[in-house]
Amino acid sequence: MEQARAWLQAASSVAVLTGAGISAESGIPTFRGAGGLWRQYRPEELATPEAFQRDPRLVWEWYDWRRGLIAAASPNPGHHALAELEQRVADFTLITQNVDGLHDRAGSRNLLKLHGDIWTLRCLGCGREQRDERTPLPELPPRCDCAGLLRPGVVWFGEALPPRVWEAAGQAAASAEVFLVVGTSAVVYPAAGLTWTAKAAGARVIEVNPEETPFSAHVDCSLRGPAGVLLPQLLS
Ligand code: OAD
Repeated sequence: MEQARAWLQAASSVAVLTGAGISAESGIPTFRGAGGLWRQYRPEELATPEAFQRDPRLVWEWYDWRRGLIAAASPNPGHHALAELEQRVADFTLITQNVDGLHDRAGSRNLLKLHGDIWTLRCLGCGREQRDERTPLPELPPRCDCAGLLRPGVVWFGEALPPRVWEAAGQAAASAEVFLVVGTSAVVYPAAGLTWTAKAAGARVIEVNPEETPFSAHVDCSLRGPAGVLLPQLLS
């Protein structure tokens, strides 16, 4: 902890990669591990274009359930600590795999959303994107004014990440002096690869996670514990 704190204090460029674990203490279940299943489905079975084509209502029921949980949740001390870190570091980028919007609500600004945003809906007919924060949605699956089917504005398995966001994330990882990786199981690529990008470019890599991950043995410092406790300590 002492060493990680010193690296952070000395750094003028910091990039952070977050995953579902940072929102766990806000009451939002992670995808993998305890509580990660919804009904009997794994995320890989629901978060795909094929699943949506097969049964849009089922996929929307899952997202509508998640939207309800997120709407009732608030950012936790982990989200707030990262918003504060952004104020202290000249060159700061927060890269998140999360679609829940809790980083925005905590005040993070230089934020790259690799997997989109659950509050954005995209029409498969006319292509228009709209923000819709109603929960529950009045109709499942929701429809656009043009009568087209609306899908969640998130990235599904088998889909490409938004290219400009991905490019900016790669640049941030490659130029960071310190790369902090928080609350991700590190199994979903390409997002997980950013940690290797940062390491290969010479960053000090610090991991925050209560569990061991595929990164743990390779990072410079692996802090085991919940983000809501460890991130405020890292900044103190
Ligand atoms: P996962 O659910 O795979 O992993 C959550 C990680 O958070 C695990 O490593 C936990 O040990 C850790 N964790 C749990 N509680 C924590 C806490 N309080 N503080 C810190 N860490 C904690 O979530 P992701 O790695 O984000 O993609 O999953 C990656 C992607 O897979 C998601 O973005 C989503 C999912 O399917 C898409 O939907 C495309």
